[in-house]
Amino acid sequence: MNKINEYISSQFKNPRGIAGKIISLIQNIVNKQMYKNTVMIVNVNSDDKLLDIGYGNGHLLKMLYKKCSPDMYGIDISDDARLMAEKRNTKANDAGKLHLQVGDCCVLPYEDNNFSAITTINTVYFWSDTVKGLSEIKRCLKEGCSFYNVVFTKEYLDTIKYTEIGYKKFEPEELVQYGRDAGFENIQIKEIVKGKSFVVIYTK
Ligand SMILES: C[S@@+](CC[C@H](N)C(=O)[O-])C[C@H]1O[C@@H](n2cnc3c(N)ncnc32)[C@H](O)[C@@H]1O
Repeated sequence: MNKINEYISSQFKNPRGIAGKIISLIQNIVNKQMYKNTVMIVNVNSDDKLLDIGYGNGHLLKMLYKKCSPDMYGIDISDDARLMAEKRNTKANDAGKLHLQVGDCCVLPYEDNNFSAITTINTVYFWSDTVKGLSEIKRCLKEGCSFYNVVFTKEYLDTIKYTEIGYKKFEPEELVQYGRDAGFENIQIKEIVKGKSFVVIYTK
């Protein structure tokens, strides 16, 4: 049983092959409200550059493009995620507004003061170094712009067996403190789905 949970957890951390595809699709369905509420609060316009960290199969990017067609960048450690996300975002790709990379968010390959918004859903559990990741994000954000870090509550994750392996779980206050350690002064927390998920908004 432990091996199965370890395998499922590893697929959430780094989706691969057909299992990664299925797990990504299940997330899109199960977390429908989480994506919808995130899209509503992200402040971005058509002439803005947006970065999504750990874009998975590109579901959030597709919804953001439908909302306002920003110039969209993405970074994810999974090669297969890039293929899935490109396939799902052909409209943005054809318009020259999709720029996906494979890489680690703790070493962002972007210039300083580059993005008007940075988003991520359900990835912070897997970063090797939370403060380093947040510092990199701060470096790449434009002045006055925000990073939206959407996460499940620790209580909710504790009800899911496979999250016992490979997941770092956070209380909201811990993510606020890590943000301060990374140099953010303006940090807000908002509920995303009642009792289940929240967003930490770090503004530069
Ligand atoms: C649970 S999935 C969430 C996918 C997507 N954000 C969504 O909500 O549909 C986590 C994603 O984060 C990616 N990931 C994990 N660690 C990462 C890192 N250090 N840098 C960038 N991406 C990472 C994984 O490859 C995977 O696609």
